[in-house]
Amino acid sequence: MTGETHESWWIASTPETSFPAGDPARTEVAVLGGGIAGLTTAYLLAREGRRVTVVEAGRIAAGVSGYTTAKVSIQHNLVYADIQQRHGEDAAKQYAQSQTQALQWLRDTVTSEQIDCELEERTSLVYTETDDDAEQVEQEVEAARAAGLDMRLVDQASLPWSIRAGAQLEGQLQFHPRKYLLALADGIVAAGGRIVEQTRALDVHTDRDNPVVVTDHGELQCEDVVVATHYPFLDRGLLFARLAPYRDVVVAAAIDEKDDPGIIAISTGSEPGGTHSVRTAPYRDGKRLLIVTGGQYKSGTREDVESVYDELAAWTTERFPGGDIVYRWSTQDTSSVDRLPMIGLLPNGGDHIWVATGFSAWGMTSGTLSGLILNDLVQGRRNPYAELYDPGRSTPRASAAKLVKENVEVARELVGGMLRPDLTGMDELAAGEAGVFLTRKGRTAAYRDDSGVLHAVAARCTHLGCTVRWNNAERSWDCPCHGSRFDHTGKVLHGPAVDPLEPHDN
Ligand SMILES: Cc1cc2nc3c(=O)[nH]c(=O)nc-3n(C[C@H](O)[C@H](O)[C@H](O)COP(=O)(O)OP(=O)(O)OC[C@H]3O[C@@H](n4cnc5c(N)ncnc54)[C@H](O)[C@@H]3O)c2cc1C
Ligand code: FES
Repeated sequence: MTGETHESWWIASTPETSFPAGDPARTEVAVLGGGIAGLTTAYLLAREGRRVTVVEAGRIAAGVSGYTTAKVSIQHNLVYADIQQRHGEDAAKQYAQSQTQALQWLRDTVTSEQIDCELEERTSLVYTETDDDAEQVEQEVEAARAAGLDMRLVDQASLPWSIRAGAQLEGQLQFHPRKYLLALADGIVAAGGRIVEQTRALDVHTDRDNPVVVTDHGELQCEDVVVATHYPFLDRGLLFARLAPYRDVVVAAAIDEKDDPGIIAISTGSEPGGTHSVRTAPYRDGKRLLIVTGGQYKSGTREDVESVYDELAAWTTERFPGGDIVYRWSTQDTSSVDRLPMIGLLPNGGDHIWVATGFSAWGMTSGTLSGLILNDLVQGRRNPYAELYDPGRSTPRASAAKLVKENVEVARELVGGMLRPDLTGMDELAAGEAGVFLTRKGRTAAYRDDSGVLHAVAARCTHLGCTVRWNNAERSWDCPCHGSRFDHTGKVLHGPAVDPLEPHDN
């Protein structure tokens, strides 16, 4: 694929932020991470008069929430039948109610605060093109209806291809996530909150009366800490054993308005190429931007990511022949093994460290819900959904197999990665090539850039030691264990790692 801009449309169409880097200070609530979960939490707390500081490692709204596809839907692919089976009927009902509350809060906030974020109402569809998943779609409709949702079974849709079965839900939304989040950030500041950027949280000390956040710009004393760093960078709750990072690629094509299917749609994934998700957004010159996601793989396990983009682009232009691909990007989300997000006290973290993670690719409502729940809990109030999403819950038996599978894969990576260095010498790398080599410094990850300069860093991920792999599309070193990512100089691009890969200069 050539010609298109390698950037998220949401980032490309909004101004950069420039909040200052943090200096050591005191606050009431330190919210670590400026994505949808952190900014919503901080917004709600600040509006209730709490002194809040958002600590962001990079720039706010430029993590996963700046690269999402931003459907604000409570239809999370086939989810209600799954939750009903794993956690029971009551849990499925509570899931439907809580996600609906989050969607409604977002819609009301956009209206009351007059946020210009291209919010559009759409019917949402989960569909299958094959017989294989038709029964599952039917079961989903039954479970969703039992959970109180007006979901309907359909066999036709306004897509330019035919479907075998679909689960349809009206009244869902889509928006421009960065326009929305930058408005929330303005709201935080207007309410007296503080935002610091380019300040990475490295640790949280709990050995004193109040927690202390250690950052690369000094210490921040506070009463409560909210870890909203996407994948939690603190390991004490051993949450990483119950979370798995999955990456998708996105292509965006300019299409004529008449070709806009007018719905948000996602397939169950039984067709060749796996799950595909489709929405559109306002674009320019009278066109709409068709945003397509697919090609999901476990983060750090694919080296030839260029071919994943190629496959998605081919799917898109075959299904929408008039589409001209203008943007492409990629990001990852964290799935929890039992399908429910984790929102609440960090296990083994004491009474003042809170966490929000495990949104399983549906963080627009679950990240918003995190804010609603954590705002209550941090302020000592009851929240009716706290128990359902409690990160300290035990894993139901129905999710045990998934738990074991994810952790066996991590164990295999920890051991296998050490035994799998590339055989040829680093010096033989051509421009644009990369590989992992055994050198006198140990495992070395080496990349030769287009101008011929060799960049060598330790291949041992600074989180828990798995061996990183090259991603030839993003030109990054990605870890197959918990999804940390590093640029070719070793700088952290995505946690849970907080430390860079150390240089392995000759
Ligand atoms: C391809 C794709 C498409 C998706 N589409 C949808 C969709 O249509 N609808 C939907 O509901 N969901 C969707 N999702 C999921 C959704 O985008 C995510 O669940 C959500 O954006 C995650 O929000 P977050 O606040 O947890 O993380 P982020 O937005 O990543 O925010 C976390 C922030 O923490 C910062 N950070 C990390 N480590 C530290 C540290 N140590 N110190 C300080 N700051 C730190 C990061 O820089 C980042 O800014 C999609 C996901 C993917 C992968
Ligand atoms: S992300 Fe955990 S070992 Fe790399």
